[in-house]
Amino acid sequence: MIDHFREAANALQRAACAVAVTGAGMSAESNIPTFRGAGGIWEKYPPHEYATIEAYNENPEKVWKFWLELVAQLKDSKPNPGHYALAELERMGILKAVVTQNVDNLHQDAGSKIVIEYHGNAKWLVCPRCRHRDPLDLSQHGDSPPYCFCGTLMKPDVVMFGEPIPSQPLVEAARLAESCDVLLVVGTSAQVYPAASLPVFAKQNGAYIIEANTETTDFTRTITDAFLHGPAGETLPHLVELIKEGE
Ligand code: APR
Repeated sequence: MIDHFREAANALQRAACAVAVTGAGMSAESNIPTFRGAGGIWEKYPPHEYATIEAYNENPEKVWKFWLELVAQLKDSKPNPGHYALAELERMGILKAVVTQNVDNLHQDAGSKIVIEYHGNAKWLVCPRCRHRDPLDLSQHGDSPPYCFCGTLMKPDVVMFGEPIPSQPLVEAARLAESCDVLLVVGTSAQVYPAASLPVFAKQNGAYIIEANTETTDFTRTITDAFLHGPAGETLPHLVELIKEGE
């Protein structure tokens, strides 16, 4: 029986450049619901009605209220032991960066320094026209979305369906996927592109793929070398312990 945890710990210990790619499952134990699966956000709020840039432009008030509700959930959320474990791997000099699909800022709150926000950050507003950004302060905003001083409707600084990934995170994440020799994929259903292409790209460039998830995904059966089954708040701290034991 292969001990995937020990194999993964050995791979990370030997890694010249380890990178993490994280999804909503990373924050599930911080009481932030995931998007898919039982009780997922998209069950209650169909993405084509609430999470596309077209829906926002057609019905800003309706979509704005959804984002306010999501940000209100993020306001009280705290990092979980999984976030702290990734920050510890960075402090140990093992993890070079976290590429996250999450917009909750919890990796930064846990102390991770190099965080590539692939889908943006819900704690900020941005003007699509002049790119002016403001913090999204819930106490400042009612049910109507804010307008920029240039007169344009502002939006949460997150990548909505139908929007491109901003060039800086897109290029930086691709560079990391190409150059890493170990990729730790945590809590993502591997359904959304281009984020889901990053682990595949890393594998094509010879990286060892470690996947931490409560369920198997399309990655598990195709590119994953070590599958850490369980909640990230338990599997990642266990991985850090094994690495420290092996030092
Ligand atoms: N620990 C680890 N994995 C978990 C946990 C947990 N505690 N709880 C759930 N998971 C896993 C689920 O098994 C699933 O594979 O996390 C994954 C969550 O999948 P999604 O909800 O699809 O989240 P994600 O993959 O991040 O979605 C990608 O889609 O909706 C868009 O922009 C949104 O960034 C999001 C993107």
